Amino acid sequence: MTLGPAMPLVCLADFQAHARKRLSKSTWDYIEGAADEGVTKDENIAAFKKIRLRPRYLRDVTKVDTRTTIQGEEVSAPVGIAPSGFHCLAWPDGEMSTARAAQEAGICYTTSTYASCTLEDIVTAAPKGLRWFQLYVQTDRLLNKQLVRRAESLGFRALVITVDVPVVGNRRQDLRNLLDLKTNLLLKDLQSPKESNSVPHLQVSPIDASFCWNDLAWLQSITQLPIILKGILTREDAELAVKHSVQGIIVSNHGGRQLDGVPASIDALTEVVAAVDGRIEVYLDGGVRTGNDVLKALALGAKCVFLGRPILWGLACKGEHGVQQVLNILKKEFHTAMTLAEVTPSHANISAGFEEPFAEGNSQQRGRTDEVDLSKMPLGSSILKFGNNREQISKSNEIGVKSSEAQSTPLSLHSLVSTNVPEPLPRSRHGV
Ligand code: FNR
Repeated sequence: MTLGPAMPLVCLADFQAHARKRLSKSTWDYIEGAADEGVTKDENIAAFKKIRLRPRYLRDVTKVDTRTTIQGEEVSAPVGIAPSGFHCLAWPDGEMSTARAAQEAGICYTTSTYASCTLEDIVTAAPKGLRWFQLYVQTDRLLNKQLVRRAESLGFRALVITVDVPVVGNRRQDLRNLLDLKTNLLLKDLQSPKESNSVPHLQVSPIDASFCWNDLAWLQSITQLPIILKGILTREDAELAVKHSVQGIIVSNHGGRQLDGVPASIDALTEVVAAVDGRIEVYLDGGVRTGNDVLKALALGAKCVFLGRPILWGLACKGEHGVQQVLNILKKEFHTAMTLAEVTPSHANISAGFEEPFAEGNSQQRGRTDEVDLSKMPLGSSILKFGNNREQISKSNEIGVKSSEAQSTPLSLHSLVSTNVPEPLPRSRHGV
C-alpha cells in the first residue's frame, strides 16, 4: 500500500511504512534488523496471525476498562515500551520524546542502557511517568552498581536485566552498512566511575558474557528494585528465574535480533506461564502490532506486552506526537478487541475464581484465578487483571474450554483463543 501525503496513519503498519521513508537506509536497517536469516523475526509476526479468537457474546460490554497493574503500579493499558537503544537516531531529542509520550499515555517506559540521552534528562522530561531501567550487565561491576543506584535514586521502579545478549547477534544488514553506532553517538550513561573524562564507556566495557544465575544475588544485594529478566524462552529458565527470586519475566527473543531460530515469543509464552504458575508476573515482547495481538498475549497468560520497533516508527514519523499516536492506536484497538470479544473487567477478573475443571485440561489446571477487590478499584470498576492464570494452560490446541455456559460465569481469557488453525498463512520476509 502507498501512503499519500495527506493520508492519516491509522495503524502501526502505516507508521512503519512512513518511518521507512523518513529514515536513512542504515538507520532503517538498524531498527528493522534481525539476526542471520530473520526466521525468528518473521515468526514473531506470523505466530500471532495463526492464533484465532473465540468470542463469547451477549455479555454487557458497556463498560470496558483496559487498566491493569504491573509490579503493583497501575497503567492505563497492558502495553508498555520495550527498551531500545539510540532513540536520537530516530528523533533529535530521542528518549526525552519517548518518555513524554509514555507519561502522557499512562504506560511504562523501559529505558535502555544504550539510551542516547542521560537518565537525568529523561526523568526531567517526564518526571511523573512510570519508568523501568534495562541493564545490560557490564563487565565493570562498579559501573553496574553506579548505574543501578542512579536509576533507583531517579525513581525508576524496576530493573530489567536482558539475558539474551552475551554477544550481539549477527545482524547482516548492519555489517553490510558498516554500522558503527558508538562512533556516532555518545552513550552518556556508560561513563565509568573510574574515569574522570567523558570518553564513551561502551568501547572499553562490553556486556558481561560471564554473568550467570548465581550473579543475580549480587544484583539483588545492591538494589531494592524488583528484578525482571528479559529474554527468557523456556520452562527451565522460567523455573530458575522463580528459584532465584526475581519478580518478573519478559518472554522475548529480542525481536529476532539475537539467536535466530528460537520460537516466536507468543509461542514460547505458554510454556513459561505454565512453569511460573502464577508465582511472578510474566510479560511478553516481540511482534505485537495490533490490539488483537495484545488480547491474544493476555489470553495466553501475559500480564502486559511491550513494543519495540513500533515506538521507533512513531518517533521517526513525528517524535513525541508519533509515539503518542502509536500508543493511542494500540490502546484503542485493544479496547475495541476487548469489546468485540466481549471481555469486560467484570468478566475477566473474577473474584470468585474457577472451580470447574476444563473440558480438556487436567485436574491440576483449575482453581485459582487472579482476584480483584472491586471496592478498591477507582471509578467503581475493576482493573483489568487477567494473565498469568494457571487455568490458561491446556494441553490441547484449544487453549482451554470452559464447561459452563452461564452468562454469570466469569469469562477467563484462556477460553478466548484457539491455535487450531488449519493452514499456515503466507509469510513475508520483508516487513513493510
Ligand atoms: C532493541 N531491543 C533491545 N533490548 C534490550 O534489552 N536493550 C536494548 O538496548 C535494545 N535495543 C534495541 C534496539 C532496536 C532498534 C530494536 C528494534 C530492539 C529489543 C527490544 O527490547 C524488544 O525485545 C524487541 O524490539 C521486541 O520486538 P518488536 O516489538 O520490535 O517486534
